[in-house]
Amino acid sequence: MTSKLDSSGASATAAQNCNVALLGFGTVGSSVAKILCERSNTHLRLTHVLNRNVARKKVDWLPSSVQWTEKIDDILSSNADIVVEVMGGLDPTEDWIRRALTSGKSVVTANKQLVAQCGPELIDLARRMKRQIHFGASVAGGVPVISGLHEGLAGDELFKICGILNGTCNYILSQIESNGIPFATALREAQKLGFAEADPTEDIDGLDARAKLAILARVGLHCNVRPESILARSISAIDAVDFEYANQLGCTIRQISWAELIAKPSPVHQGDELFAAVQPALVDLSSPLARVEGSQNLVIATGTYGGQTVFGGHGAGGHPAAVAVVSDILAIARSHQAAVTMTDAGQPDEKTPTVTADLATKHYLRFLVKDHPGIIASLATILSQCGINIDSVLQKPNCPKSHLPFLITLEECKAALVEQALQQINSLDFLVQPCLHLPIL
Ligand SMILES: NC(=O)c1ccc[n+]([C@@H]2O[C@H](COP(=O)([O-])OP(=O)(O)OC[C@H]3O[C@@H](n4cnc5c(N)ncnc54)[C@H](OP(=O)(O)O)[C@@H]3O)[C@@H](O)[C@H]2O)c1
Repeated sequence: MTSKLDSSGASATAAQNCNVALLGFGTVGSSVAKILCERSNTHLRLTHVLNRNVARKKVDWLPSSVQWTEKIDDILSSNADIVVEVMGGLDPTEDWIRRALTSGKSVVTANKQLVAQCGPELIDLARRMKRQIHFGASVAGGVPVISGLHEGLAGDELFKICGILNGTCNYILSQIESNGIPFATALREAQKLGFAEADPTEDIDGLDARAKLAILARVGLHCNVRPESILARSISAIDAVDFEYANQLGCTIRQISWAELIAKPSPVHQGDELFAAVQPALVDLSSPLARVEGSQNLVIATGTYGGQTVFGGHGAGGHPAAVAVVSDILAIARSHQAAVTMTDAGQPDEKTPTVTADLATKHYLRFLVKDHPGIIASLATILSQCGINIDSVLQKPNCPKSHLPFLITLEECKAALVEQALQQINSLDFLVQPCLHLPIL
């Protein structure tokens, strides 16, 4: 979906020395500036840095030729060929990017919320202005998954993209798993170490990952999906005991972002239903997803012809994200220099599928109950009335009778059917807390 339209005339000449203006001099912005200044043999020249209250941001390691400013008009009227947006947020960012494109500049942005919300409109504007907009750092930081899907795998017909897109959740789940600590303790430690924000809602509740998944679904599956249409479920109910049970099943638990065209695209049948969800799930210990530790990211793309391709690495951090930004700048500069006309020609038309979270899988139901005789019988009755088959029942020994955790796994069935059964189950009086329901992928 990345728009790659050649800018012509003056820009093609200027690309010999490609001028770059930075909007935002924070974690990613200062790393981008460092790479641009330290790396030799590129034709990239940092000309402007914009930030609010810019005086407190000035550093002595940038060349004196760099102009520092607080005014967007200084950038728009400058000789910058490429504007790099690393401020974050939607306002005034969206407006400034539109104005940069309209004034004839190409744009690189690392802003996932912006790309997820306004990507198609901005790409369309870039196309009309014969400019480019790239956003490689917006998903999985330094992992080149956007260019990998858009270019490297363009020859395949991808039908599934799944992965671990949020380093904060992965760090917290890894800590619960390896140290056997409660969720709240793992979150507090992640906040102390700077792996989680003071307000962690966006990460924990899956909102950050679903914005990234919407971008990947557009780039890789050519599906126009609004982030809000994707199911996002929190990891906050996961407890250390869930890792013990998951391990007994040969699995672990990760926050998994999953987008899959339900009918495989083919000349005969275009897939028009997309399963898309971000949720904690059980993954097999032999899967590459199970081996993603700490704040790493991993994306697996599956295609009709090429099978699985795995992208992995640092999903966050100033330097990894800056590498993705500078790679995007170089891609634009190269296309200017070669004076080639690269277009989205050959890319399949974008689909607008129905989005569903109702995939048929096996399921993990973990209960915390006040023990008394007949509990399993009551649960089995409701499940069988809903047409759901139990696969196994597991119970950890020596747990207090007042807070007894036990597990029921279900044979493959649709998630909506299980949710229907859980509406009845969660009102049963022996439950200490609502049942934890995870898909087994
Ligand atoms: N950090 C990462 O690991 C990472 C990875 C991938 C993508 N990203 C994305 O990259 C972008 C930047 O992230 P970051 O971590 O570098 O954020 P950051 O450290 O908060 O830096 C943002 C910079 O932009 C400035 N800024 C914000 N709004 C502004 C405005 N309206 N006018 C002028 N200056 C403004 C901030 O100034 P103040 O100093 O005044 O706040 C700050 O210097 C975000 O979209 C983020 O999602 C980040």
